[in-house]
Amino acid sequence: MTDQPNSSAPRSHGRKTLRPTAQPQELMTDRPVLARAWTAQVITLLPDAFPGLLGTSLTGKALKDGVWQLETTDLRRFGVGKHRNVDDTPAGGGAGMVLRADVLGNAIEATRRGARGRMPLIHLSPRGVPFDQAMAQDLARQDGVTLLCGRFEGVDERVLEHFDILEVSMGDYVLTGGELPAMTLIDACVRLLPGVLGNAESAVEESHSAGLLEHPQYTRPAEWQGRTIPEVLTSGDHAKVAAWRRDQSERLTRARRPDLWARHGDKSSEQG
Ligand SMILES: C[S@@+](CC[C@H](N)C(=O)[O-])C[C@H]1O[C@@H](n2cnc3c(N)ncnc32)[C@H](O)[C@@H]1O
Repeated sequence: MTDQPNSSAPRSHGRKTLRPTAQPQELMTDRPVLARAWTAQVITLLPDAFPGLLGTSLTGKALKDGVWQLETTDLRRFGVGKHRNVDDTPAGGGAGMVLRADVLGNAIEATRRGARGRMPLIHLSPRGVPFDQAMAQDLARQDGVTLLCGRFEGVDERVLEHFDILEVSMGDYVLTGGELPAMTLIDACVRLLPGVLGNAESAVEESHSAGLLEHPQYTRPAEWQGRTIPEVLTSGDHAKVAAWRRDQSERLTRARRPDLWARHGDKSSEQG
């Protein structure tokens, strides 16, 4: 049985010379590590799925500009035996397969050797603490993150204990693997990095930034299908617009997310 990976070097993605029209696969290239860029390390059985959507639009431009960098670790490279097996049947029986502790352990160690500064190690998991904007803000202030994407029935529990891995959930439903949650987490963090959003797309006033949902938005035409834009928004009175938006935010949050509204109320009374 060969436990040695054929190559333990994680792969970097993105480079400044990339054309914005390139296919995601073309973003992938070995490149020098950018010492100061926010770094997402992703341990996955599907490295070719990255950067995927993250290679487009604002996150893609920021990747190309070196605001952040992406490194994938192909779990398969750490597989054991001729077939590079990464999983086995669950101890105690039951359906499905579980990612092996030794395979995961070697992949995590190799990946973490390349970690710089403060980079929390996270396993995306439906059992985890729910991901939210506050966590995105916190992670965006750090140097990056190492993300372990599970597959099949998940990962051997001993790995979570040994590396003291934080489990983070993208919601109360079960996906096939951790890759989409990893991309969601990275997207939410990268758009908060300085310079990623232009003035036109401020992260300050959007949903969840102040614990409330965002007010409704309108644009041209002034009338559509017999529906007009609320008059206050075309009044030019900035104070009234701000008050209307605040009121709408509060109404929407109260109606749609009583849990957020309750937390917001608690925070306001603490501050007041
Ligand atoms: C089919 S799931 C395993 C679910 C696991 N057996 C359970 O019941 O908790 C396979 C992998 O997908 C990822 N995953 C699935 N749903 C997720 C969610 N809601 N949030 C984050 N990751 C998720 C995790 O990495 C997980 O290890």
